[in-house]
Amino acid sequence: MSSTLESPSPLNHSTKSTPGLSVLKLPDPGVASKRVAREIGALIRQRASENRNCVLGLATGSTPIRVYRELVRMHREEGLSFHNVITFNLDEYFPIKPNAAQSYVRFMNEQLFDHIDIVRTNVHIPNGTIELEAVPGYCRDYDELIATTGGIDLQLLGIGRTGHIGFNEPGATQDTRTRLVKLDNLTRLDAVKDFGGMDHVPLLAITMGVDSILQSHRIRLLAFGEHKADIVQRAIEGTMTSAIPASFLQSHRDVQYLLDDAAAECLSPSTTGELSQ
Ligand code: GLP
Repeated sequence: MSSTLESPSPLNHSTKSTPGLSVLKLPDPGVASKRVAREIGALIRQRASENRNCVLGLATGSTPIRVYRELVRMHREEGLSFHNVITFNLDEYFPIKPNAAQSYVRFMNEQLFDHIDIVRTNVHIPNGTIELEAVPGYCRDYDELIATTGGIDLQLLGIGRTGHIGFNEPGATQDTRTRLVKLDNLTRLDAVKDFGGMDHVPLLAITMGVDSILQSHRIRLLAFGEHKADIVQRAIEGTMTSAIPASFLQSHRDVQYLLDDAAAECLSPSTTGELSQ
């Protein structure tokens, strides 16, 4: 497995119009996740050796779970310390209590934070319990806090079937900042399994904006499975449009898609040809 890690089949989708975008097709989600976890671990260690913080942008959903599992393993078995790590999560349902089964606070605690040595005050997740009137100010502060830390060094992303990143649903423009948004119906439908019925799925969420995400120094987007293939193709090969917010990643200077075979399936032969070089 480690030799595969060393030599993934690189699809360097690096064209004049998207010079900062690359695509890696990897044999399976485990290999892709380990690769990202190793990159994160190396960044944390490099920053620690320079006595600097490492600022990570974190995502929820089923996709990044293996990355978190690998980071926990690296903490336990390889002594990777998170004492110099500051985190900002992309989004949270609104309203929601932090201890609710579907809360992203709970998700992050269970998947990562409870198992590593991160300083709890360095963890930031949008607060799903604040009063509605306080949300705009809270969101401004969230963006400002990210900027104060020096910006996100590495942003981990998944992609929703609507083409959302975070909860930036179709219609979100490139200049959007952290804010309250309405969830798309398809996104709510995908969340029914977690909430046990459409009526229980929140209508709203707080999310970092597209621009907030684009400010990150590096972006790593993971997508696995055939149900992501169509949206991945449109996000990478289509024109940049607010109909597919993930397409705005094409404008970033260092964004990498890590895909399994199934998620890469719809990439066009011409692009694939170009990617194989
Ligand atoms: C939720 C999250 C997104 C995530 C998406 C995909 O909507 N807010 O950040 O990318 O789910 O979920 P999954 O990884 O389970 O496919």
